[in-house]
Amino acid sequence: MRTIDWVDGAVELIDQTVLPDQLTVLRITTVADLIAAIQSLAVRGAPALGVAGAFGVAVAAREFAGDPDGLARAVRAVEVARPTAVNLARGVRRAAARLDDGFEAVLAEACAVRDEEIAASEAMAMRGADLLTELCGERPRVLTHCNTGGLATVVGGTALAVVFELHRRGALAGVIASETRPLLQGARLTGWELARAGIDFRVAVDSAGPFLLARGEADAVILGADRICANGDVVNKVGSYSHALGAQRAGVPFLVVAPESTVDPDTPDGAAVEIEDRGAAEVTPYSAAVNPAFDITPHDLVTAIITDRRIVRLDRGEKL
Ligand code: MRU
Repeated sequence: MRTIDWVDGAVELIDQTVLPDQLTVLRITTVADLIAAIQSLAVRGAPALGVAGAFGVAVAAREFAGDPDGLARAVRAVEVARPTAVNLARGVRRAAARLDDGFEAVLAEACAVRDEEIAASEAMAMRGADLLTELCGERPRVLTHCNTGGLATVVGGTALAVVFELHRRGALAGVIASETRPLLQGARLTGWELARAGIDFRVAVDSAGPFLLARGEADAVILGADRICANGDVVNKVGSYSHALGAQRAGVPFLVVAPESTVDPDTPDGAAVEIEDRGAAEVTPYSAAVNPAFDITPHDLVTAIITDRRIVRLDRGEKL
């Protein structure tokens, strides 16, 4: 089952706001509904956002046919619906570059974005599983953060695809999924995907991660990225940085798995990235709150970045 696809003239996507309680598919035919789905996190995760953005241009091309100003505004609105994951703006720009060639050309480009992400997931799974085994031995136990499975891509995933592949090889000894406050992508979504795959796992509160690593309960941290900067800084779900510090202190690898579509050579470092603040309501009804949806793990805490095309060993001084 694909998390997002173009089906009979509409975008269809799994509504991730109601998982794991309900498996519901949203059928989207307007730009406003697509933006609402992106901003509510009905569709989320960097690669899936790239696909959503590209399909969003196809939706806009049809909805605003004959209205060039309205079309330009709609495309821009999709592009900036969320600021942090580079994939969204990239997917939009790729599809929008075909607007002069008509709707079918835009849709073909969006389908290419989708298909490339599917292929990338497979490549990352293999390469990441090989590296984890090389670094951690035959049956590693891993700690992962947020959701990086098929729900964050189209099928498969990034870091979680590596976990699935290790399980398929009989080479996985355990998974800790950190719950991922405040929207619980780890507890709700990663838990749902791992359970469906028949993989045993335990959920931990985010703040337990560094302590669990110190106590020797995982052999590696493996997670995804929303943007990888030119200097190797990794922007990912808030909480990633704490896990990186914990991994360094415990002496275990900190591995980042992301497609090349998440690597952004135009962003020099993490300080140049807009970190989405999602407002107080997701955190507490009792006071003002600061709610950064992402954080920045400095490149010197990252052991390796695994993409669909390469492994970059930052711990050995390799550059992106
Ligand atoms: O706010 P979200 O749920 O879109 O954040 C998602 C993440 O931070 C993921 O870890 C990242 O996009 C990698 S997904 C393969």
